[in-house]
This record gives sequence, structure tokens and C-alpha cells, in this order.
Amino acid sequence: MGGKIAEMAQSRGDEVFSGYAHNVPAFGKAVKFDLLDGPGISETVMRIKPEIIIHSAALTDVDRCEREKKLAYKMNVEGTRIVSEASKKAGSFLIYISTDYIFDGSRGLYREDDAPNPVSNYGLTKLLGEEFCHGCIARSSVIYGKRPASGKGNFALWLIERLKSGKLVPVVTDQLTTPTLNTNLAKMVLEAADRRLYGVYHLAGATRVSRYDFALQFAKMLEMGADHILPSRICDLKW
Ligand SMILES: NC(=O)c1ccc[n+]([C@@H]2O[C@H](COP(=O)([O-])OP(=O)(O)OC[C@H]3O[C@@H](n4cnc5c(N)ncnc54)[C@H](OP(=O)(O)O)[C@@H]3O)[C@@H](O)[C@H]2O)c1
Repeated sequence: MGGKIAEMAQSRGDEVFSGYAHNVPAFGKAVKFDLLDGPGISETVMRIKPEIIIHSAALTDVDRCEREKKLAYKMNVEGTRIVSEASKKAGSFLIYISTDYIFDGSRGLYREDDAPNPVSNYGLTKLLGEEFCHGCIARSSVIYGKRPASGKGNFALWLIERLKSGKLVPVVTDQLTTPTLNTNLAKMVLEAADRRLYGVYHLAGATRVSRYDFALQFAKMLEMGADHILPSRICDLKW
């Protein structure tokens, strides 16, 4: 996601510094930035003194956050605390990209003032990270785009690959999400930055849809074997 924001900010003429840990970014001036290196974060932020910091780095692998709880805490909570403190010191407006995983998903269509109740360690650490943020907390949901970012795919790219294989693709009908196109999210985040929007904002797609319906519409639009998408239920899948 960070890469898409950097791309769009650069294309409108902003001076962009792109933090990275492992994958050199394609847009903006690449700056080494390790969430596990507190002094390094502070030094980098104080050296650049950016007007705006968009903090999208995180340990996003949900299963890994369960297996490696200490690492998830260090990156998503401690790392965010240090970014937040450094941004205050540097006088930067901070936007923290958070997630719908801070909710338990039992109801859906959450509003900004609904009570969080994370059911995963990923969601919990992202929520704890929110508590340090003094600027804008931008919560998003199921981000997709046409290119893999940081070597990681997304639901739409996964679906295309599976459809290309010609096999049946089971997709669940009983999980509802609001998928968010990365370019739309980047536009919303940049607007939040320009307007210095303080507080919590849900920045996600406008439509609630099941994974199955999303997959079906997507495949139809790309004319890619929509009849290969098999309606399934969460309980049918072997995780
Ligand atoms: N994907 C979604 O559906 C979704 C939905 C809602 C919210 N979000 C939030 O949006 C943000 C971006 O998500 P994403 O899906 O784009 O994540 P991602 O593809 O996993 O990217 C994670 C980013 O974190 C960086 N990173 C990883 N380890 C780091 C470290 N030790 N120090 C500094 N940076 C490190 C990565 O840089 P390198 O590539 O250099 O390692 C990469 O830029 C996250 O905060 C996530 O919680 C995502």
C-alpha cells in the first residue's frame, strides 16, 4: 500500500521519501527504515523532518503475528510508538494505516466510534498501535491492486492466478468485506494528509460484498472463467 501512496504523491509533485526494510521501493527517495531499530527511526525522521508521515509499515502476515507474538508487538506496537514520538518531535502530521481487523467481524459495517474487539494478534497489535497516534488513524479493509506490493499478492491477484490454472476455485459466500482498490485508498489518504484530518477514519471501499460475489464480478469483468468459481462456506475450506 505504501508504494501506491508514494507513486501517487510523487506523480502530483510531492517530495517523497519511501521507507523500506527489505524491498527497495520503486517510487520516492528510498530510505532504509527498520521498525525494529528505534534509534534509527528517530534519527531518520529528525534528519528529514517530513511535513507528513504516512506510517503504513507493519507485520501484516496474520498467521505470523499469531506464531511470533513478540515480533508482532515489537513491529506493530513499539515500532508505531517510536514513529509517533519521532513525528511529534519533528512536527510532522502523522497518518497511521490501520485495519478492520481491530473489530471481531460479528456485525459488520462498523463505524469509527464502534468498540474494537480484535480476535487476532495482528488486529490486537494494530489496535495498540492506534493508541499512540496523535494525527489521523486511517482504517482500511482488503486492499487490492493490479501489482503485487513488497513481493506480496492480494485477493484479486490470487484469484487471477487460480483462474489461469483452469481449476475450480472455491471462494466463500459467508465472509463479507468492503474491498478497497489501492488507488482509491491512496487518493483518500493523500486527501486526509492535505486536509490534516485528525481522528479516526474508515477509508475503505463503498460496497459490502461477499468474497464470492467479489470474485464473481471480478472474473466476469476480466472475462476469465467465472463459471470456475465455486461457492463455498468457511466451514468447507481446509485452512
Ligand atoms: N492489505 C490489506 O488488505 C490491508 C487492509 C487494511 C489495513 N492494512 C494496513 O495497511 C498497511 C500496509 O499493508 P500492506 O498490505 O501494503 O502490507 P505489506 O504489503 O505486507 O507491506 C508491509 C510494509 O511494511 C514494511 N516492513 C516490513 N517489515 C518492516 C520492518 N522491519 N521495518 C520497516 N518496514 C517494514 C515492508 O517493507 P519491505 O517490503 O521493505 O519489507 C512493506 O512496505 C499495514 O499497516 C496494514 O496493517 C492492510
